[in-house]
Amino acid sequence: MALVTTSASDGICTVTINRPEKLNAMNTDVARQLIDAFSDAARRGDVKAIILTGEGDKAFSAGADIEYMSGITADESVEYARLGQLVTETIEQVDQPTIAAVNGYALGGGCEVAMSCDIRLASDRAKMGQPEVTIGIPPGWGGTQRLMRIVGIAKAKELVYTGAAIGAEEALQIGLVNRVFPASSLAEEAEKMARKIASNSAMGVRMSKIAMNRGRNADLDTGLSIELLAWRNCFTHQDRKQRMNEFLQRPKK
Ligand code: COA
Repeated sequence: MALVTTSASDGICTVTINRPEKLNAMNTDVARQLIDAFSDAARRGDVKAIILTGEGDKAFSAGADIEYMSGITADESVEYARLGQLVTETIEQVDQPTIAAVNGYALGGGCEVAMSCDIRLASDRAKMGQPEVTIGIPPGWGGTQRLMRIVGIAKAKELVYTGAAIGAEEALQIGLVNRVFPASSLAEEAEKMARKIASNSAMGVRMSKIAMNRGRNADLDTGLSIELLAWRNCFTHQDRKQRMNEFLQRPKK
């Protein structure tokens, strides 16, 4: 059975973690299938935006698989964390913009995977957090690093040290999610945003993503140099000529 499913239409690819009976907890098979799904989508020129969500109405993902982790050695734990970090790196670096539609619990690895997406939209029933310390470990799929870059170090430390899950409104307030929607309209709203992004120049969006992702951890001078290269690249692409001409030739009101 596919533990990760993919569907694509009108330039939008939706990747769904499909292990609802375990609240979409990510064992090694789920992790590998996620890497494959995002790598495949990245290669598809017809895919302009990617939505990641969880099957069912309860969970985006309740995290790494605790049953699996309870029986592994320290060396095996490194392999598992490396695999998890590869999942988040693959999602983060995919060319197309990514939207996490957080449809329920996004805990531990679930929160970490959502944080590797460009944008997070949450259902009003979402619960997010990094509960790893409650089971004797720190976050290991990027949570000690990405969370503080998104919400600031003080809030990140509070969430990681307490292990407490927060609701959608608090997640919105601290900037962990971009927007909150009623559970019944989350999928539609995620698609609406994906369609809006897909209607723009894929090259312009892609270069913006690269400049922001690569510049985020660089000093300002380096970041601005990356921005210049990304900008120049777009001046070699047909989208720029076509879209600027369309603007100039628009019917005058
Ligand atoms: N790993 C493995 N299995 C998990 C899991 C995880 N992270 N999270 C949930 N599951 C499984 C449960 O074991 C249960 O399986 P079972 O029916 O075969 O026993 C099933 O998913 C449903 O979970 P359950 O705990 O019964 O649901 P709930 O509604 O009572 O509680 C949560 C939901 C999310 C609060 C609870 O499942 C939870 O705390 N999960 C762990 C979250 C976590 O610590 N994640 C970080 C891991 S590093």
